[in-house]
Amino acid sequence: IKIIITDRHGVKHQVDAPTDMNMNVMELVRSYELAPEGTIGICGGMAMCASCQCYVESNHELPEMSYDEDLMLSEAFNVKDNSRLSCQIFIKEELDGLEIELAPEV
Ligand code: FES
Repeated sequence: IKIIITDRHGVKHQVDAPTDMNMNVMELVRSYELAPEGTIGICGGMAMCASCQCYVESNHELPEMSYDEDLMLSEAFNVKDNSRLSCQIFIKEELDGLEIELAPEV
């Protein structure tokens, strides 16, 4: 599938995302090096750091937030109504065309 990611400099990237690797969007961003090492995915995808926060710009229906994700976002900076932790968004067929923007580095 294709996922469109706006990096922290406002540059849009359309990237290929595999649906058969149980990969999440934070890992996708890292694999394409769209954010410098050490600025995203610090907790390793455990919903415990918010370094992977993103804003969901398309109308895709995402799974409900887990308690941990909700709690982390309630304590994070720069949170908006469309904030999600990208490490909690797993790449699936139905997310083709998903558009996200990375939240500012904190
Ligand atoms: Fe830490 Fe997503 S990588 S919350």
